[in-house]
Amino acid sequence: MSEMAVKTAGLAKSYNRGKESVQALRGVDVEIRKGETLAIVGRSGSGKTTLLNLIAGLDKPTGGKILVDETNLRELSDHDMTAFRLKNIGFIFQFYNLNPTLSALENVEVPMSLAGMPSAERRERAIELLTSVGLQARTSHTPDQMSGGEQQRVAVARALANKPQILLGDEPTGDLDSKSTKALMDLLRSLRKDTGMTMVFVTHDPLVVSRCDRAIALRDGKLVQELSRSDIEKARIGTMENEVLEGVY
Ligand SMILES: Nc1ncnc2c1ncn2[C@@H]1O[C@H](COP(=O)(O)OP(=O)(O)O)[C@@H](O)[C@H]1O
Ligand SMILES: [Mg+2]
Repeated sequence: MSEMAVKTAGLAKSYNRGKESVQALRGVDVEIRKGETLAIVGRSGSGKTTLLNLIAGLDKPTGGKILVDETNLRELSDHDMTAFRLKNIGFIFQFYNLNPTLSALENVEVPMSLAGMPSAERRERAIELLTSVGLQARTSHTPDQMSGGEQQRVAVARALANKPQILLGDEPTGDLDSKSTKALMDLLRSLRKDTGMTMVFVTHDPLVVSRCDRAIALRDGKLVQELSRSDIEKARIGTMENEVLEGVY
């Protein structure tokens, strides 16, 4: 069994925009260990979302290699990719992306329903999940009846529904105040302790970076820097002069 949750080599992605081709990723090599929490940082347009979406199997590379838990994503058909994603990947978004017409409970049930779980079982698990994120009293509320922090916790419960190996977040605290950000990061830390899940967050938030084991910085579709936990600490107290970090902090 591999120690690596994710391994990319020469990963490339270009988009067509009219007649132009935009190279969003230009050969990224990254390895993410199982159980590790990684931050992806970098200025707007540097390719962070593209990298995360490729890891999630939401989009396909145009070059290079990507293994997620030893599965070569480029070899999967669209159908197999959807099944792989449903089972192995949890995803949280900056603006929660909950279904506004469904209750918290129903939102959490969606991925289980897609995975074919019987309704009594999924209801029970949805309640369990909402309890674990501290929302047992909110199960019948719709998103507009909840704060941003609460909605993001519903989104976390939904992401965990099918017990994924990997949790990905694209600026998951980008719409939260600092109190809700701290609460969310505390929740994710305890989930990590309980499940050993691998977590990858695209973020601009120093607090989120400080809670990660490691950070990588992208610029113009390339990995330009890798920071260990102690580098992160140093950067936070301002002893490191670094162009990339200046863009981040
Ligand atoms: N669907 C798309 N079509 C065309 N260009 C895109 C698309 N998605 C992203 N891009 C371009 O790819 C580059 C990287 O974008 P993105 O991965 O969203 O960066 P980040 O998340 O770091 O802001 C940018 O130049 C962006 O304009
Ligand atoms: Mg982005």
